[in-house]
Amino acid sequence: MKICISSDHGGFELKKILIKHINSLGFEIKDLNDTAYDPNDDYPDTSRLVADAISKKSYDKGIILCGSGVGASVVANKYKNVRAAICHDTYSASQGVEHDDMNVVCLGGRIIGDALAKEIISEFINAKFVDEERFIRRKEKLNQIEKENLS
Ligand code: RB5
Repeated sequence: MKICISSDHGGFELKKILIKHINSLGFEIKDLNDTAYDPNDDYPDTSRLVADAISKKSYDKGIILCGSGVGASVVANKYKNVRAAICHDTYSASQGVEHDDMNVVCLGGRIIGDALAKEIISEFINAKFVDEERFIRRKEKLNQIEKENLS
């Protein structure tokens, strides 16, 4: 599975911790803004790197961090093929993938602690979309909404 990550200054420290965690799980992860800490960077610039890569299907799953996770998710959901949400609990991180085929998870570096963030990411990475009729039906409706509004 191909995974990518990015963050602004608000998620910088947590990003480093999560990259190590993901590597320890045996997955490779690409940091799409692997730069020095920049207190003046802007979340639209850093978040769009992952959103664009997921939209183009260059990666299977993406992780975006900012201070709250809000800006990251707002940016990501402006891209076609991207289904992003803030998940600050483990249930949403797995259910979001299983039911909604969420392909980007957003976290707030100023909101959650490292231990919970690691568990959330493990759930997100290991979860798979459940191809039951009701989930497929809902995803098709989502695709229709996207077609009508994001062309
Ligand atoms: C940056 O200071 C902060 O505003 C940003 O990371 C984020 O929280 C936006 O949603």
